[in-house]
Amino acid sequence: GRILYLTRHGESMYNLENRIGGNPSLTDRGHEYALQLGGYVNGKLRISQVWTSQLIRTLQTSAYIQDIETKRIQKPELNEILSGIFDHLTYEEFKAQNPKEYRQRELNKLTYQYPSGESYLDLCSRIEPIMQAMDTKENLLVVCHQAVIRCILARFQRKAAIEIPYIKVPSHSLIKLTWVDGKNLMEVIPFDV
Ligand code: F6P
Repeated sequence: GRILYLTRHGESMYNLENRIGGNPSLTDRGHEYALQLGGYVNGKLRISQVWTSQLIRTLQTSAYIQDIETKRIQKPELNEILSGIFDHLTYEEFKAQNPKEYRQRELNKLTYQYPSGESYLDLCSRIEPIMQAMDTKENLLVVCHQAVIRCILARFQRKAAIEIPYIKVPSHSLIKLTWVDGKNLMEVIPFDV
């Protein structure tokens, strides 16, 4: 059946600082993941398209994938959850600046909508239109973000909505979803970065 590969971007500057959102670049370690991912994809995989978000960290993560046969497409739908007025803050700063909002998010992470931003439910609706296109016969690699991958995995693995914001998405790993016998078999390929 078709194979869909998903990966988070490599480690970013904001990951190091525990910051929300933004448009940071990769750290040296993140670039190392990009290099290893490129080597693996070029050497082992037959992929016809690579989809990224429009954010620098996913573009950098896919930078070493040769695009002789592979079409590279930026999809705004794959951008990370919009954190509105709390974009760029650390989780600690968010909590200190607005403990009530922070608490609301803790209590209701699925439905909590960042002011001027999105909730997980908003995000899942945003990606819904491209989910169909993701489910093609051709092999595809999607390089995006933690919250976005949670929504994609929930949809393909038929998880209960309430679980979505807590799905573990390992970093520096390829998630391989193979469609067999009417379901998606999931395999995680970790990289030594
Ligand atoms: O930590 C990286 C990140 O992608 C943030 O940009 C984003 O806001 C967050 O993860 C989503 O995870 P959570 O919903 O658990 O805060």
